[in-house]
Amino acid sequence: MKIKKIFVSLMTLLLCGCSMSSVKERNSSNMKNHSSSIKSEHDNIKVVYFSCTKNTQKIAVKMANDLECSIDEIIPYVPYTNEDLDYLDDTSRANLEQNDNNARPAIQNTIDFNDIDTLFLGYPIWWGKLPKIIYTFLETYNFDSDTIIPFCTSGGSGISNSVSEIRQLEPNAIVLNGQRFASNASDSMVKSFIDSLNL
Ligand SMILES: Cc1cc2nc3c(=O)[nH]c(=O)nc-3n(C[C@H](O)[C@H](O)[C@H](O)COP(=O)(O)O)c2cc1C
Repeated sequence: MKIKKIFVSLMTLLLCGCSMSSVKERNSSNMKNHSSSIKSEHDNIKVVYFSCTKNTQKIAVKMANDLECSIDEIIPYVPYTNEDLDYLDDTSRANLEQNDNNARPAIQNTIDFNDIDTLFLGYPIWWGKLPKIIYTFLETYNFDSDTIIPFCTSGGSGISNSVSEIRQLEPNAIVLNGQRFASNASDSMVKSFIDSLNL
């Protein structure tokens, strides 16, 4: 009987240790990846974005504030310079990538999706479509059975073509129609989109 009690106590200690260490791993990996868990209302939701000139970043931050969820940036291994983003130059990096089906720009950071089942995915529209680094991102992580809510910023182009691309890349995820925002979208515009989702 005594031996049984000792065994049960040991197992309890061991299990507590394990779950604490997995929480630690999650937190330290978030810190490492420039993630900030703003508050913790929605532990199952994460906002992830790619942004070169900060338009999408501004929307992403508003979203994470509203949702009280964690936020991570997709950081390119090689940062995009202004020359790289010159869409008037056929030979600029962004244009070459968009014209190359096999282009998969490398990502510098890893992102922790433990316990996440709903992903807000933000990006700029490049030539009506997803920047190729979003292909790299979606091919790196598995979002089967998760819900992906795309959002984008653009000079005027809509989001729908990029949503079709996400659906092709993630056939086993539930991909909502998402929302395009102007770069100067207000807090209330972002909030009303989130409210419309009834999460
Ligand atoms: C290479 C490239 C292609 C672009 N193509 C489009 C486009 O097809 N339609 C559009 O409305 N805006 C286009 N834009 C403008 C961006 O979508 C817009 O400036 C966006 O808000 C940038 O987001 P960011 O600041 O988060 O990088 C393009 C920009 C770049 C650099």
